[in-house]
Order: sequence, then structure tokens, then C-alpha cells
Amino acid sequence: MNDLAAASPWNLSVAPMMDWTDRHCRYFHRLLSPRARLYTEMVTSAALVRGKQLRLLEHSQQEHPLALQLGGSEPHELAQAARFGAEAGYDEINLNVGCPSDRVQSGRFGACLMREPALVADCVKAMRDAVSVPVTVKCRIGVDDQDAYADLQQFTGLMLEAGVGVLVVHARKAWLKGLSPKENREVPPLDYERVYRLKREFPQLVVVINGGITTVAQVRAHLTRLDGVMLGRAAYHDPYLLAQLEHALHGEPLPDRDSVLQRLRPYVEAELARGTALKHISRHLLGLYQGEPGARAFRRTLSEGAHLPGAGWALLEQAMAPCAAAA
Ligand SMILES: Cc1cc2nc3c(=O)[nH]c(=O)nc-3n(C[C@H](O)[C@H](O)[C@H](O)COP(=O)(O)O)c2cc1C
Repeated sequence: MNDLAAASPWNLSVAPMMDWTDRHCRYFHRLLSPRARLYTEMVTSAALVRGKQLRLLEHSQQEHPLALQLGGSEPHELAQAARFGAEAGYDEINLNVGCPSDRVQSGRFGACLMREPALVADCVKAMRDAVSVPVTVKCRIGVDDQDAYADLQQFTGLMLEAGVGVLVVHARKAWLKGLSPKENREVPPLDYERVYRLKREFPQLVVVINGGITTVAQVRAHLTRLDGVMLGRAAYHDPYLLAQLEHALHGEPLPDRDSVLQRLRPYVEAELARGTALKHISRHLLGLYQGEPGARAFRRTLSEGAHLPGAGWALLEQAMAPCAAAA
């Protein structure tokens, strides 16, 4: 890791993932990683401003540093949504310029905005005028045929002019027609070199790389050239990787997996008391023992039992038992 990356609050983050990085997931990830920046699922500015669904901003104090990701393309509405986010205590407001789903395209936001950099710049300026926390952008390296380096360079230049100090780049383009969102995370090839070049040409910009990064060694290698790494699927499916990264990058002692779960107990019990069903929390824990003896039994016990009436902490104890015995 270079000095820049070591000092950057963006050096390690967990990606915004719809339906995955909800507040329960983030609370759990925070137990594994005291420092990683956590991102919410995308929340649309319309849901907050027109729909008045401010409950979408709910989070726990323990989740900080925490970024709210917004989707939208209407500057005034995004500014108001950003204000709500900042008032709710988020440390950063991130604009989604990378999601290619049809639903998002019909709302004219997400990855299709890479075609409209001037509009993105207007959105960002309006958001920056509304809040004092950093406003950041998450984008792709291109969309459809607009995928030359010059296109990304022009987009980035406009973002800088608009006052964006941090750009998260998913290092593959998106095809707006013909590929599902899932295929758009797998089919277009990764091009890390393009992101490195962006950092070389815009050294003043904090550049965070995302896409296909799954190991401590890969994170370390990216951090020699960039300010930060954002992990998505790898962090979700193998959350213990977050603890391994804290250990490797910051010398944090490695917690054992059982103790992480034990530290989750007060949260689980408080949520159950509020009426949250165990399955909404336990679904994010399934990968904790990934690669360890007992992992399959852990997953099975939780998957089979968490939706049953009355499921509570005892089920987690039961799920943990074979793993503890194997350790
Ligand atoms: C289930 C799922 C939901 C996602 N939702 C969002 C989202 O709401 N906003 C966003 O910018 N990216 C979203 N993404 C993309 C991720 O943030 C990330 O860019 C992508 O998964 C590539 O990183 P990875 O290879 O480390 O997973 C989603 C990805 C997944 C797997």
C-alpha cells in the first residue's frame, strides 16, 4: 500500500448492493471490519423526496463510516435527497452512475448517465451545494459504444470540475441493452489498467477501483497504484475476508468467527425485540464460515430454521456448534 492509500478513508470499502447491503448486513460487516467504508443499497431520490420514505435512511450509529448511495438524475431532487441523507448522519453521499438495470434506465439514472456527463455534473454541483459531507460518484469505465478511454477521461474531467473528489470506478463497461444486470457484472471484461491510467492522469482525484477483486493479495496490489479498493460480491459471500483485510492492511488482530457472532448477539436480540424476523439478519451471515469445516452445516441450519416461527438466538448457537467442534 502506498502512503496515500494508507491515509485515505476510502482505502477499503464494501460496495452498495441492492437487497444485500441493508442495515443488518452493514452492522455485521462492521463487526468484521472496524475501518471499511460501508455503502447502503441504492436509494432513489424520488423515494426520499416524493415518496417521503425516510425510513430508508435508518441505520445504526455503529455503521459509520457510512455512505448513502442515491439514484436519480434530477438535480433539485438529488440535492434534497442528499440533504436528508446528511441530516440523517451519513458521512458521504454517493451518486450511482453505474447500475444498468432496465428499471434504472427508464428512470434515466444509473449507468446510462455516463452518456450525459454534463447532467451528472449538474446533479453533483446541486448535491454539493446542499451538503457539507463529500459527494462522490460511482461509475463504469464506459457504456455501449461510448467506451474509449477518452470518454472516461472527459467524464472524469467534468466530475473534477463539478467538485467530485472521489470517483469509484467499476472497471468494466456496461451494455445497456441485451445484458441483464447480473451479466453486466460478469460478461464485459475487466480493465484495471484503464483505472490506473485515470489515476496517473488525475493524481488529485481519489480513485477507488471496483470489480472482480477477491483476495488480500489483489487488494494490496491495487493499493500500490490507487487510493482505494471497493469489494462487492467477495465481501458478501466471504465476509471474513473483511477481517483478513483489516489484519493485513492495519495489523488488526484476527477475530475468530464464533466471537464475531457472539458480538452480534445483542444486536440480534434487540432487533428480535423490535419485531425483526431472524431470517432478515441471518441471511447475511451464511458465508461467515466459508471454506471452514462445518460451513455447510452452518448454512443449512440457518437456511432451514431462520424462517420458522419463534426462531431466535438459540438457532445461531445451534448453527455455530459444529463449526466450533471442528475448530
Ligand atoms: C446483488 C447486487 C446488487 C447491486 N446493487 C448495486 C447498487 O445498488 N448500486 C451500485 O452502484 N452497484 C450495485 N451493484 C454493483 C456492485 O456495487 C459492484 O459494482 C459490482 O458487484 C462489482 O464489484 P464486485 O466484483 O466486487 O462484486 C450490485 C451488485 C450486486 C451483486
